[in-house]
Amino acid sequence: MKFKKLFAPILLSSVAATASVQAGEVEVLHWWTSGGEAKSVAVLKDLLEKQGHSWKDFAVAGGGGESAMTVLKSRAVSGNPPAAAQIKGLDIQEWANLGLLTNLDGVAKKANWDNLLPGVVSNVMKSGGKYVAVPVNVHRVNWLWANPEVFKKAGVEIPTTWDNFFPAADAIQKAGFIPLAHGGQAWQDATLFEAVALGMGGSDFYNKAFVTHDMNTLKSDQMVKVFETFKRLKKYIDKDSAGRDWNIATSMVINGKAAMQVMGDWAKGEFTAAGKKPGVDFMCLAAPGTSGQFTFNIDSFAMFKLNNSDNVKAQNALASTIMGPEFQEVFNLNKGSIPARLGMARDKFDSCAHASMDAFNGSAATGDLVPSMAHGLSTTSYIQGAIYDVVTNFFNDDNLSAKDAVNKLAQAVKAAM
Ligand code: GAL
Repeated sequence: MKFKKLFAPILLSSVAATASVQAGEVEVLHWWTSGGEAKSVAVLKDLLEKQGHSWKDFAVAGGGGESAMTVLKSRAVSGNPPAAAQIKGLDIQEWANLGLLTNLDGVAKKANWDNLLPGVVSNVMKSGGKYVAVPVNVHRVNWLWANPEVFKKAGVEIPTTWDNFFPAADAIQKAGFIPLAHGGQAWQDATLFEAVALGMGGSDFYNKAFVTHDMNTLKSDQMVKVFETFKRLKKYIDKDSAGRDWNIATSMVINGKAAMQVMGDWAKGEFTAAGKKPGVDFMCLAAPGTSGQFTFNIDSFAMFKLNNSDNVKAQNALASTIMGPEFQEVFNLNKGSIPARLGMARDKFDSCAHASMDAFNGSAATGDLVPSMAHGLSTTSYIQGAIYDVVTNFFNDDNLSAKDAVNKLAQAVKAAM
């Protein structure tokens, strides 16, 4: 105490230029380690450090966050969770139900978050009516990224339906390119699968399958067709795809080895980080058959209960920084997503982001704004895991029929409910 009193004036003067509050530390768990992702998260670190607080980076590599979630669980079990963790969708409720998350309503009320966020976003951030997490963005998942040069060389148009995907992919293959860049990891398989389901079955079918888990829909002929089409894509993916990271797949489109990738718009972060321009070096189109639809994936940080009051201040500063317009703009320019915060200026964003913003608003009006199953927004982690297993096993097993897969899917979902 004496020590603190003695040194208080010195400490204060040394931070006075940057901050008026006592400095604390936040440990932040995330899985943003690719080129575009790392650039994005650095924005948050800088803005926090400018306020005098310190950032303890807790990055766990692995797209989609499966490894990060495993590490988080073991830290929480040992009673030592980080201040903030990248937790999304229904997982936020699961963590809140364990009583581990802190109530952010103090910060939220002061800045009027309820008025700054669309309902579809704020709902996900709350548990029992109180904010426990803060959104950084809205990602659109149903995108097709294409290299126009490769299409030109193959003499075909970029496909807008699954029906015309196949002849285009044949021509691309004949011209000596890989039609579809993909990484054989469960979450990437699920990302591709949900795009096929949405494009072929429509939003109502999608919601019945992945949100309300209607058994007739899960076992339907339409679902058999979805699995069949999904399996047909295998032929257009190169032999070395097993275990490949998503950003390596994106780089294959960037450097013209492959023609297309179906991936959320974090892929745009890679194109941007490589200095590539939309409409020139690469094209962004809705995944085949999904032009009026928007599969949403909201990245957010859930905040854990802390004991140290300085660290609580740093944690609150982190929460309000995330909701600030400066962060929401710069972060999303790098990340490929669009701001979660309403009323942001559009002028610095590119044509893909504008298309995403328009599709977000348009799809909300028509009932075509659907939560991503592959990214944890549509269902519990248990059901998501069950779907992942069926989808991945089917994709990798040439002896399993689409009919068998559909039966397995229905059984697995039922067992996890
Ligand atoms: C998603 C996450 C994105 C992106 C992607 C690949 O689940 O929401 O922000 O990071 O994984 O890592």
